[in-house]
Amino acid sequence: MAYYVDEHIENTERVFPEPGRYGTLRYDMNENPEGLPAWFVEEVKAEITPEFLSIYPEPGRFLEKYAAYVGVRRDCVTATNGSDQAIRYLLQTFCGQGHDVVTVAPSFEMYWVNCNILGLHHVPVSYNDDLSFSMDNLLAAITPNTDVVVLLNPNNPVGDAFSREDVVAAVEAARAVDAVVIIDEAYHYFYPNTFIDLTQTYDNVIVLRTFSKLFSLAALRLGVIISNPEIIHYVNNARLTFDANALALLFAERILDHPEIIDELVATAVEGRQWAVDELAARGYETRRCEGNFIFVRPNRPAPEVAADLAARGVLVKSWNSGMLKDYLRISTGSKQAMEKLVDALLAVDVA
Ligand SMILES: Cc1ncc(COP(=O)(O)O)c(C=O)c1O
Repeated sequence: MAYYVDEHIENTERVFPEPGRYGTLRYDMNENPEGLPAWFVEEVKAEITPEFLSIYPEPGRFLEKYAAYVGVRRDCVTATNGSDQAIRYLLQTFCGQGHDVVTVAPSFEMYWVNCNILGLHHVPVSYNDDLSFSMDNLLAAITPNTDVVVLLNPNNPVGDAFSREDVVAAVEAARAVDAVVIIDEAYHYFYPNTFIDLTQTYDNVIVLRTFSKLFSLAALRLGVIISNPEIIHYVNNARLTFDANALALLFAERILDHPEIIDELVATAVEGRQWAVDELAARGYETRRCEGNFIFVRPNRPAPEVAADLAARGVLVKSWNSGMLKDYLRISTGSKQAMEKLVDALLAVDVA
C-alpha cells in the first residue's frame, strides 16, 4: 500500500535507550542515580486524589512560582513535556524548512534528530581533538541561512562551559542574521552560572531548563522555556494544549516550595562528583571533571568492553564506539555513596 509518509520522518534513524534499567545502578543517562528524598515523594503523593487525576493539567501555578524563582515575569516562561519537547517546539517555530540550525558537536542528540524529523539543515561545529571548543568556528558557521544557533551550557556530552564573552559574541552574531539562540541549561545547578539574564536584554535568546537532572524527575517529563514574552507567545501557539502533565507540575511546584531540598541536592551532587574524580585519579585514572552531573574516565581496557562488563554486573555507564570520546566512559555522578558503588564495580572489571 502506498500510504503517505513524511519524507523527513521516513528517513530519520532513531536509536532508543535500552529498556530494563529498573533495579540497576544507573550512571549512563545523567539522571540522579538515587532520586529525591523518599519522605518528600510520600508527602507529595498524598496530594494525588481521584479529583486531582480527573482534571486536565493547569501549569499556571507552577509557572508563576518558577518565574519568580528564576527572576523573570510570568509571561517569560512556559512548561513542556521534558526539554525534549521544548527542542521540538523551538525548532518547529523558529527554523524554516531547509534553513540552518547551527550546534556544537558532539551535542545532545535530540537537536540533530529533530532537525532530521523537521527537514532542517543541521550545521554541526566540531570540538577540537583535545576537547576544547573554538567559538570562532561557531561564529564562522553563522550565515544568513541560519535561523537557530544552539549552545549547551554546560555541554553534554563534553562537559565544558562557555564564557559570557563567547555567549554574547554568538548571540550578537546570530542577531545580525535574525537568528535565535537556544542556550540549553539542562545541567545548571551542577554549575552555577546562568545566561537567563540575556533573555531579558536580547530579543533573540531562549534558555531551556529541565527537571530531569538535579530535580530528579526524569520519569515525569518537565522542561521550561525562558525567553521574552513575544518568543513565549509564539511557542505557546505551537504547543499541544496539555503537554506538561499535572503530576510533573505538582512535584515541581513542591520542589520550589522546599528550597532546602534544592540546596541539599546540589551539595550532595557536587560532593559526589568531586569524590569520584579524586578517588579515580588516586587510583591512577585519567579523569575529566565536567560541569554537569557526569565525569569522564579513561579505562585501562577499551571503553566499550569495560562498559559491557559493567552492564553485565548491573552497572550502567555510557561509552562510544567511535568519535573523539571513544576512549572514555561517561559516568553520571550522584552522592558519594552512589559513586563508591561505581568505583568498586569499575575497579573489579577494569583490570589492566
Ligand atoms: C543537554 C540536554 N538537553 C536536554 C535534555 C533532555 O532532557 P529532558 O529529560 O528534559 O527531555 C538532555 C538529556 O539528557 C540533555 O543532556
